[in-house]
Amino acid sequence: IKTIGILTSGGDAPGMNAAIRAVTRSGICNGLSVKGIYRGYDGLIKDEVKSFTTEDVSGIITRGGTILKTARSKEFMTPEGMQKAYETCIKEEIDALVVIGGNGSLTGARNFAMEYDFPVVGLPGTIDNDLYGTDSTIGYDTTMNTIMECVDRIRDTANSHERIFFIEVMGRDAGFLAQNSAIACGAEAAIIPEESTDVDQLARFMERGIRKSKKSCIVIVSESPKCGALYYADRVKKEFPEFDVRVSILGHLQRGGSPSAHDRILASRTGVGAIKALMQGQRNVMIGVRNNEVVFVPFSEAIRSDKPLNKGLIKVLDELSI
Ligand code: F6P
Repeated sequence: IKTIGILTSGGDAPGMNAAIRAVTRSGICNGLSVKGIYRGYDGLIKDEVKSFTTEDVSGIITRGGTILKTARSKEFMTPEGMQKAYETCIKEEIDALVVIGGNGSLTGARNFAMEYDFPVVGLPGTIDNDLYGTDSTIGYDTTMNTIMECVDRIRDTANSHERIFFIEVMGRDAGFLAQNSAIACGAEAAIIPEESTDVDQLARFMERGIRKSKKSCIVIVSESPKCGALYYADRVKKEFPEFDVRVSILGHLQRGGSPSAHDRILASRTGVGAIKALMQGQRNVMIGVRNNEVVFVPFSEAIRSDKPLNKGLIKVLDELSI
């Protein structure tokens, strides 16, 4: 391998820039040429490629978002799109790809690697933390801290007005952000996709919570097209008209901002790991950190859809929210 291409794909995540920096610098340090590919797989299809020097990644470790831009490419999912992407690799003399992204992006990476027998390694870049084989993903910790800061602020006004707040957080199909931010914020409950939340159960909880000394209440709700924060707020309003209920959907502010120390270090370690993996002849693996060790996780394992949420976390929240 002489030249690697690097791209970011899917939803951006704080720490992606730190990962781009690490892959670029480690690549150059190990004698490789590095090419930045803009706008994810779309940019690979359209040949939006630029040679990177160490200066191209100067000063970016502190910045949220991704300097390479990102996209959710529909075209790359078609055989024609993939073929064009492969042709760009040939034209640009790219011998291996480093893909930074979440579940969908690494699925695309695996398909491309298999279809063209092409060396690809991935870095777990997503706020959702839904990739198997790594303790956390790049961006997750920063987003958790952002949520915590927002909820702390909402708590002030919830207390003052003695209101119940349903606060909706991102996470797609995974409840990591909701469950852990609920613990970190001292919320009264979390509603997550991993647990079927029966509305009666929620209502009973509300009754119990409010009947006790608590006059205000925070419930963190995982986003969901049908049963998001608005849905639960409506149900509670109907059943308990005496309560003053409000909803706050945090939205995309969760994805922005300067990455935390944890995410910068995770991005740096996995970025260096990506180059090491390629130099060792590894392919089709995601670089993760598990038990404080850098690990190479086969794509097929990393992208399995059931990364389990530690059930002990549910008990922690339940016990502490009495
Ligand atoms: O995968 C990251 C994520 O932020 C999810 O948590 C969320 O469901 C989705 O992306 C939002 O995507 P978009 O920015 O395209 O609306």
